[in-house]
Amino acid sequence: MKKFAKVVSSPNMKMAAVRELNVAPNYQYNSVIIDEDIKDFGLNKKYFIRTYGCQGNLRDSEVIAGILKEMKYSPCQNVEEADIIILNTCCVRENAEKKVFGEIGSLKSLKQKNPNLLIGVCGCMVQQEHIVTTLLTNYQQVDIIFGTHNIYQLPSLIKDAILSNQRICNVLSNQGDIQEDLPSCRANTYKAWVNIMYGCNKFCTYCIVPYTRGKERSRKSVDILNEIRQLKEMGYKEVTLLGQNVNAYGKDIADLSFAELMEQVALTGIDRIRFTTSHPYDFSDELIDVIAKYPNIMKHIQLPVQSGDDGILKAMGRRYNRKQYLDLVKKIKDKIKDVSLTTDIIVGFPNESDEAFAQTLSLCEEVKYDSAFTFIYSPRVGTPAAKMKDNISMDVKKQRFNKLTATIAKYELEKYKTFEGKIIKVLVDGPSKKNEEILSGYSEDNKLVNFKGDLSSVGKIVNVKIIKAKTYTLEGEQVD
Ligand code: 5AD
Ligand code: SF4
Repeated sequence: MKKFAKVVSSPNMKMAAVRELNVAPNYQYNSVIIDEDIKDFGLNKKYFIRTYGCQGNLRDSEVIAGILKEMKYSPCQNVEEADIIILNTCCVRENAEKKVFGEIGSLKSLKQKNPNLLIGVCGCMVQQEHIVTTLLTNYQQVDIIFGTHNIYQLPSLIKDAILSNQRICNVLSNQGDIQEDLPSCRANTYKAWVNIMYGCNKFCTYCIVPYTRGKERSRKSVDILNEIRQLKEMGYKEVTLLGQNVNAYGKDIADLSFAELMEQVALTGIDRIRFTTSHPYDFSDELIDVIAKYPNIMKHIQLPVQSGDDGILKAMGRRYNRKQYLDLVKKIKDKIKDVSLTTDIIVGFPNESDEAFAQTLSLCEEVKYDSAFTFIYSPRVGTPAAKMKDNISMDVKKQRFNKLTATIAKYELEKYKTFEGKIIKVLVDGPSKKNEEILSGYSEDNKLVNFKGDLSSVGKIVNVKIIKAKTYTLEGEQVD
């Protein structure tokens, strides 16, 4: 039997594109409200969360887990055992969306077996009108749809869905407030994600994120620093500062700049500090100096270039040209010894000629990245680029993609080879996925290291002697 869908609010991408600049965000504290009548809803019930996409989503899923825990739900490892399943989705490329629709489809049979099962879909995908329409029309098995701005309302959405026996949709397209003090169950006990800002105002022409994540808005530095100090006291070794464009931190409020914030974070004394992602446009000289100065700021910079061709960069709305990007790379390499540079690149953007693609290859040859995430352009509904003709055939896109990954791999291996024979510091994650007897972890400059070592080192920083370099990993043995 079809259930009625109550649509409290649904997304509107035109509204999501509005930016009222020079207006500081609203900060809300302790906004999760769990009514008396639902505080034990989760007793003897289990939750399962599947997360797609970026670190921002991973962090949001930790918050969703925290809220469900407050409602007394406990976690489980597979969908069959769950009483509530949440899919936290990504829409950055079409493939990400296809996976989610596939998964929702496969959950239909579980829902038929257990009509009390609750299925929630949240995250970036449902910030788009056409996706919500499709879910409401064709995917009866989905009970709750909520967006990136109102995760804190999850308890009341669950209550509504259960007590009113209706499907609920509540997705906001406002510029977004900042919710502080949300409960969370962190996925890890020694490394943590810490949001420093939300949203994006850059509006690169191919990118959906400014519409799904709202306006750039910074957390107060005092709240960020308190969170990091607490993490340190709890024994955390590493924090990764998160934002769609961390270099724009503080531009919307009278607070520290990103460089000043990084310095304060370094002074907390936490062992390892990382940050992601940096837009080259906002990368200041002060930031380069701070990264160079503090040993606990890791010397790894993810600096998305997207293309090496001026015409394509302009069409992408990236706000820098090839020369400006290369000048920034030179400045970074000159000032930060042994810096590791990684990047994101898109191939097959509309009108990308063979010559334009050759420019991307030559830029990679010049920079010699430590590694790169490479993507085939995927048109996103509602973005300016989606109105351009997607005129590069899939065959050509794939050929370019393969050429690019081969070029990146060549320099990656060259760089990795320079580590052979060296002793480097690794924060140990645990037994490697492929071989229980081998431990794995990440080096200071974010390389995956597999090594023979002592299981008691998990969560600690240890010295590892590198014996062999492969294209994507280093192999070695623990020396202390
Ligand atoms: N198509 C392909 N890749 C994309 N990215 C963002 N939007 C698209 C798109 N429409 C890539 C960019 C970005 C990374 C997170 O995803 O390279 O830096
Ligand atoms: Fe995906 Fe971007 Fe949303 Fe992250 S912010 S989940 S990458 S669409």
